[in-house]
Amino acid sequence: MGSKVALVTGGTGGIGTSLCRELAQQGFTVVAGYNSGGKHEKAQAWQAAQVKDGFNIDVAYGDVSDPDSSEACVNAILERHGSIDVLVNNAGITRDSTFRKMTLDQWDEVMNANLRSVFNMTRLCIQPMMDSKWGRVINISSVNGQKGQFGQTNYAAAKAGMHGFTKSLAQEVASKGVTVNTVSPGYVLTAMVAAIGDEVLQKIASTIPVGRLGQPEEIANAVAFLASERAGFITGSNLAINGGQHMF
Ligand code: CAA
Repeated sequence: MGSKVALVTGGTGGIGTSLCRELAQQGFTVVAGYNSGGKHEKAQAWQAAQVKDGFNIDVAYGDVSDPDSSEACVNAILERHGSIDVLVNNAGITRDSTFRKMTLDQWDEVMNANLRSVFNMTRLCIQPMMDSKWGRVINISSVNGQKGQFGQTNYAAAKAGMHGFTKSLAQEVASKGVTVNTVSPGYVLTAMVAAIGDEVLQKIASTIPVGRLGQPEEIANAVAFLASERAGFITGSNLAINGGQHMF
């Protein structure tokens, strides 16, 4: 039997790249889902850079907020690799704005990319996982889904929604060898976080007891563990990785 196949949505992004590399390191066949606004050359350049670093990672295009595009993406992966055993719902965007200024577009874009996407992708992967009696769904949420964040009513609502999704689906598929968990990163050094203005970011960083932002690898290590055989008894849980910024 070949190695298990892991799909990481948003796989070419900041945390996504680390997730892909760590899962590859752990022996999974890894596919990085990408949207990149349809800029395929960008994903190909990303893939070439991974090869240069010794990581053989496939890439597959799809807009996870769109059901048809999600289906085309999953079908292409199944054709090439035969199964998707681990689904990491990692794709996500921000459209930060105080609520009083937030447009319906900013609300919808974030809900669709961050939460509807989880429905679209998981729906396509869950039945085959149940049929094969093994599977892992790992949803990448955020500390801000737990504690809320000034300027993120849309993002925090979508990320909080993931928890209810995880806990419900975990109950539905537990008897079939499929686990469903959430990982909630805090502020991790990626382009998404770097886009916050310096002043605001410094203020936020000062509230992190560990005294620094997280590294993408620190999220990837936990995701690789949840994807592994050793984590078979962990389901419906949320693993907070935020340097102590929010504890409960
Ligand atoms: N807490 C309290 N008050 C705040 C504040 C804060 N964090 N930030 C701004 N304010 C205040 C300002 O001082 C100002 O007050 P006055 O009107 O009294 O002068 C007022 O709010 C500004 O309100 P505006 O509606 O005009 O806000 P703005 O347009 O200037 O900026 C914002 C709003 C774009 C949301 C900005 O605050 C911001 O960038 N915040 C950071 C949001 C953030 O943390 N995003 C995380 C992105 S990373 C990520 O999401 C990854 C992950 O999972 C962790």
